[in-house]
Amino acid sequence: MTAGPLTESRLPLPLLRRGKVREVYEVDPDHLLLVASDRVSAFDIVMREPIPRKGAVLTQISAFWFERLAAVAPSHYVSASTEEILDRLPALRSRADEIEGRSMLVRRTLPVPFECVVRGYLAGSAWVEYRTSGTLAGEALPGGLIESARLEPPLFSPATKAQSGHDLNVTFETMAAELGRELASRLRDASLAVYRAGRDHAAARGIIIADTKFEFGTARDGTLLLIDELMTPDSSRFWPADRYRPGGPQPSFDKQPLRDYLAALRSEGRWNGEAPPPALPDTVVEATSRRYLEGYRLITGRELGGSA
Ligand SMILES: Nc1ncnc2c1ncn2[C@@H]1O[C@H](COP(=O)(O)OP(=O)(O)OP(=O)(O)O)[C@@H](O)[C@H]1O
Ligand SMILES: [Mg+2]
Repeated sequence: MTAGPLTESRLPLPLLRRGKVREVYEVDPDHLLLVASDRVSAFDIVMREPIPRKGAVLTQISAFWFERLAAVAPSHYVSASTEEILDRLPALRSRADEIEGRSMLVRRTLPVPFECVVRGYLAGSAWVEYRTSGTLAGEALPGGLIESARLEPPLFSPATKAQSGHDLNVTFETMAAELGRELASRLRDASLAVYRAGRDHAAARGIIIADTKFEFGTARDGTLLLIDELMTPDSSRFWPADRYRPGGPQPSFDKQPLRDYLAALRSEGRWNGEAPPPALPDTVVEATSRRYLEGYRLITGRELGGSA
């Protein structure tokens, strides 16, 4: 059995943060519960309609990577099994349908105040800067690259976590000046290793992970852990490999039905691109849900459990 779509969780635990998509709860001084709702955002606006199964897809893709890549980088991951979580937190048993599939128990850390972005393809803010000045975060890139070009080797491209608005790309030197060269180098090396492993796995299954954002944190015992979500469609650009055509923007594996619908409304002058978001037809919601489930199936080789 699977519960219906969830716009936001309200669990009887201290709520530390409500992000665009996830809620972060405190479990005890050393553990957090991350709950991915079915909210979806496009063009930086959170839609009103939840996307069925999206939260579970995000959580279970992260769990897949944390388990599979544990030897590449240690992480905060403890469990994404609802049964295991309920065994540890019996007070949530009456709320099982609210957390089913979508929650992850993790070790609490002190987050490193940089986003560790790795880019294997030239897209988004990196393409905008390159097109204007031939650089990425002020550092020169090879000439003659086209939009969505594959970058070999992939580039480590950290960003500062802006409190509001968009993150700011910074150079490795900026990061090293703030964190020390030793820690900055460890973050860069771990990020590149995890990205390469993920990119190669996904590419063999029809998904290009064009770029992705990692977060790291320091556990109480001082170990550096990979935290947050891992190579999900929300923290990465997923592109369908069979439709890859460099020289322009690529379709999104997961949000394209939603983006197409919103772009059409805008071009018809029926939405100005700002909050409040327009109402989404069921067909768009369902098509988007199917994309997320397909992404899960391709990445993990499994069907997401529970009824649709
Ligand atoms: N193990 C951990 N220890 C401490 N903090 C963590 C851990 N894992 C994740 N976090 C933090 O949890 C927060 C998740 O909230 P966030 O605002 O990113 O939610 P979101 O729904 O992904 O929203 P957004 O779309 O704005 O990113 C982040 O600030 C992240 O640093
Ligand atoms: Mg986030």
